[in-house]
Amino acid sequence: MKPFLEAFRGPVAQRPPIWLMRQAGRYLPEYREIRASARSFLDFCYTPELAVEATLQPIRRFGFDAAIIFSDILVIPDALGQQVRFVEGEGPRLDACETPEHLSRLSRRIDLAKLQPVYEALRGVRAALPPETALIGFCGAPWTLATYMIAGKGTPDQAPARDFAYRHRAAFGNLIDTLVEACITHLCAQIEAGAEAVQIFDSWAGVLPEGEFRRYCEEPAARIVAGVNARFPAVPVIAFPRAMPGGFSAFSLHTKADAIGLDTSCRLEAARAALDDGIVTQGNLDPLVLVAGGEALDEAVDHILATTRGTRHVFNLGHGILPHTPIAHVERMLKKVRG
Ligand code: CP3
Repeated sequence: MKPFLEAFRGPVAQRPPIWLMRQAGRYLPEYREIRASARSFLDFCYTPELAVEATLQPIRRFGFDAAIIFSDILVIPDALGQQVRFVEGEGPRLDACETPEHLSRLSRRIDLAKLQPVYEALRGVRAALPPETALIGFCGAPWTLATYMIAGKGTPDQAPARDFAYRHRAAFGNLIDTLVEACITHLCAQIEAGAEAVQIFDSWAGVLPEGEFRRYCEEPAARIVAGVNARFPAVPVIAFPRAMPGGFSAFSLHTKADAIGLDTSCRLEAARAALDDGIVTQGNLDPLVLVAGGEALDEAVDHILATTRGTRHVFNLGHGILPHTPIAHVERMLKKVRG
């Protein structure tokens, strides 16, 4: 069995499997080269040959145990009819939905025709991957997608979406419901196209108070897991509620996710102790220590290996790899993890 999938279904491994969030990206010279050939970032995501190549680059170079399809979380708003573009050096820009009226102009269902290039890329990657490498599909979680859809861009504290959710509860609830269905549809289509596990990125889960976290992150994650499980009971679902306000046990019991992604600020030992033995943990290594390298990196890797020994763990970062990460540091980390 593929080592990544064995973390979920097999006996507990001697060494954890490893992949990195955002493993295809600007820290790789070969990525920067093909990125320059696309007109825009979304064009890049929607050109299967380029998406296949970007997905395979980190596998060829490092032999990670899993590939994650090269795409973006913002293809869902795009497929709901909201304008999405990426401004060089600044990040995503959407046609901001500042009022309930504006939101009501979006589709209730994603346009699957628009997302066909993503599924075609998954089929291409699956056919080209080495037999021991697993393929991961993903989506942005409803709350994180809503923060971009309402503000029209990334914001430091997600204040526009938090404010909107307090003022317009019904409209915001409808948006979350639409996004839950969109996530289920998109994840299931990715599995049909060859994804062997899926991850739900809730990058901005950490800004919400407890009640809002339960309503807008935990409950939607539970519904997405149930929706995917209903059609594909054997496919692992990884939830990544980044910087969530504690309560790992409750989150895990409620959502029934097969794995929980742990961000950098999370206390690994406490999270592991709170979770059932059958639940997989993933992540936690600080992306900045991977940039720094040296002894600090060795210590941080050893700490995670020691803390998770004898448990189901997938080695990963606590958030995406940073563009200025030296390739030699990734190699050094891999050597330590693989032993
Ligand atoms: O992990 C992978 O290798 C797969 C591809 C992937 C990308 N984005 C490619 C990408 C994945 C899984 C994502 C997820 C994503 N996208 C998230 C959730 C994870 C996280 O990091 O919190 C979010 C919030 C986004 C939205 C997004 N996309 C932003 C805010 C940006 C701009 C910021 C930046 O790093 O420039 C992007 C662009 C983006 N998505 C890039 C890549 C490789 C860089 C753009 C480029 O190459 O020009």
